[in-house]
Amino acid sequence: MNQPAAKPEMMGVSKNTTAIFYEDVIKGLQSCPKRLNSKYFYDANGDKLFQELMNCPEYYPTKCELEIFSNKTGALAQSIIADGDGFDLIELGAGDAMKSSYLLKYLLEQQADFRYLPIDISSNVVNYLTVKLPLTLPGLQITGLNGEYFEMLTKAASLSNRRKVVLFLGSNIGNMPVKEATEFCKGLREHLNPGDMVLIGFDLKKSPKTILAAYNDKGGITKRFNLNLLERINRELNADFDLTQFDHYAMYDPESGACKSYLISLKDQVVNIGGKENVRFIKDEYIYMEISQKFTIMQTDQMAANTDFHPVDRFFDNKKWFVDVIWMAG
Ligand code: AVJ
Repeated sequence: MNQPAAKPEMMGVSKNTTAIFYEDVIKGLQSCPKRLNSKYFYDANGDKLFQELMNCPEYYPTKCELEIFSNKTGALAQSIIADGDGFDLIELGAGDAMKSSYLLKYLLEQQADFRYLPIDISSNVVNYLTVKLPLTLPGLQITGLNGEYFEMLTKAASLSNRRKVVLFLGSNIGNMPVKEATEFCKGLREHLNPGDMVLIGFDLKKSPKTILAAYNDKGGITKRFNLNLLERINRELNADFDLTQFDHYAMYDPESGACKSYLISLKDQVVNIGGKENVRFIKDEYIYMEISQKFTIMQTDQMAANTDFHPVDRFFDNKKWFVDVIWMAG
């Protein structure tokens, strides 16, 4: 009771976010083939839709990783506490922090010396976490960081020089093709010191039908999740997408492990953005929206080896559909 109250904080950069969003959207829609960046899925409405997705019967990754975090909390915690020196626990793309909450609760019970720094692209998410978590996890030291991963990692490094443990859960890494994910891990490594750790969640290759169903749910939540980005563009960038004239198409390629989402134009149409740019669609033309890459264990080891990390530990769910790996910076 005489513990000082954890002080919720929120830091970040939000200058020009609309301008950058506009530039990215115009650049993507003027490319051939057209594409949009899935990181923009997560406005307040997108966050809600993703919550719905995580609860729908077909979307298994969250359930698998939740099983790992709730059943193997002690072992996970031991692995990251290591020699017991204080550390900063940084989470990239924290979302609702549902999975990490198990770990946070356990670490607090063990009286581990740590501060939690959730990073998220959604200011909505970061606001929520910095207010909510200290209420459910009394004594938690938390600093929320709203912005891009690497910018916020640099910021986190400037706040303390303690050992860093970086969580990158939920197969968020799958939103990059393998080559880009490898570059990302190299970037991550450059922001860390030898002995720092990362805990990364990878969705594994499995029955193609199981994977496809997760990204093509019967309830149509994935479709709404994708269309929500067009709605966001309408609202924030003053565009006039007709959401009824785009359909969602998902495909999984078992060979490459790539699961991709597209929006397909149902007719020839012109969309105006911000009263300035006109974007022309022909019937059946697609917008490439998202990749959710699936991996083999071998690929994850390969990725560690290629990016100067050493695999330390591995935690699977019962079905072995998902893995959380712990790597140490070399
Ligand atoms: C939040 C990026 C892990 O790719 O599985 C869910 C997002 N997209 N359904 C994923 C998503 C469609 C999700 N990640």
